[in-house]
Amino acid sequence: MSHHELRDTAEALVAPGKGILAADESTGTIEKRFRSIDLESTEESRKAYRDLLFTTDGVEEFISGVILYDETIRQSSGDGTRFAELLAGRGIVPGIKVDKGAKQLALAPGEKITEGLDGLRERLAEYRELGARFTKWRAVITIGERIPSEYCIWTNAHALARYAALSQEAGLVPIVEPEVLMDGEHTIETAYRVTSRVQNAVFTELHDQRVELEDMLLKPNMVLSGYDAAEQASVDEVAEQTLRCLYRNVPAAVPGIVFLSGGQSDELATEHLSAMNARGPHPWQLSFSYGRALQAPALKAWRGDTGNRETAQRAFYHRAKLNGAARYGEYTREMEDVAAAA
Ligand code: 13P
Repeated sequence: MSHHELRDTAEALVAPGKGILAADESTGTIEKRFRSIDLESTEESRKAYRDLLFTTDGVEEFISGVILYDETIRQSSGDGTRFAELLAGRGIVPGIKVDKGAKQLALAPGEKITEGLDGLRERLAEYRELGARFTKWRAVITIGERIPSEYCIWTNAHALARYAALSQEAGLVPIVEPEVLMDGEHTIETAYRVTSRVQNAVFTELHDQRVELEDMLLKPNMVLSGYDAAEQASVDEVAEQTLRCLYRNVPAAVPGIVFLSGGQSDELATEHLSAMNARGPHPWQLSFSYGRALQAPALKAWRGDTGNRETAQRAFYHRAKLNGAARYGEYTREMEDVAAAA
């Protein structure tokens, strides 16, 4: 593995007009998603759903990479081609979620720490063998009364950097994901203050633990009003506050920032990204790594029925295409209707 391989992969993942599909739902999370369409989650149904997404015609025009889950990277498509191989063959970089989930942080009621560092070096080597070229680790920060604590912020930042260093050592591009949850009644100013503090801690740890900033991507939340806040910030305000936060905390050496959607509506996730790109150029590529905001319409159209496979693929394609437009700051709400009519 040459040193340039990591840099090339990071840059390919944020190539103009493209972004990442997060399809790395753990078994518990995909079960929750399937429950919303009244479908039982089995190894077969999970495989059929991922197969539908990964074989969507033409989607490689807008999707640069896919984050897989441990079970999925070991599964194969109908013709026996392993999913990682199938994606790579279409020019889509396969990646893998490597954390083991967020658990209660000891002596910190209401706060979480992400686990999965033990044995990580060995697991990374295996994932690389299986075809993965990048990884993801998600830390979760909750906003509430007197939280997050500095203790929670720094333990998560430390774990993120340990993961990122191990990932680069293994020849895999780390996607560092410190997610500040937007649940609650907090104002956009509070979201800004917490997100900024978290990103500052994360880059301090990345620096101290010798992580090459050129060979990683950051996956942050956007700065939003709490979902239950009485007043919701406008698209312009979200774009401005999020950019202010990134400009103050993310070194220009980082090639790209790939937002999570975090429970925003599909349309808003696309609109916010577009508004930020319209204010460019920026020192880094501003892209997406959406789970729900890319998959929701496809999941709803599919409902577990093979007969709906093509309709579901069309829905996924359109969502990917609109987010591709947002990469150039060219998305408009009118494009939704065109997509719906097609
Ligand atoms: P959402 O876009 O649904 O927030 O998921 C992205 C992700 O990968 C969270 O870890």
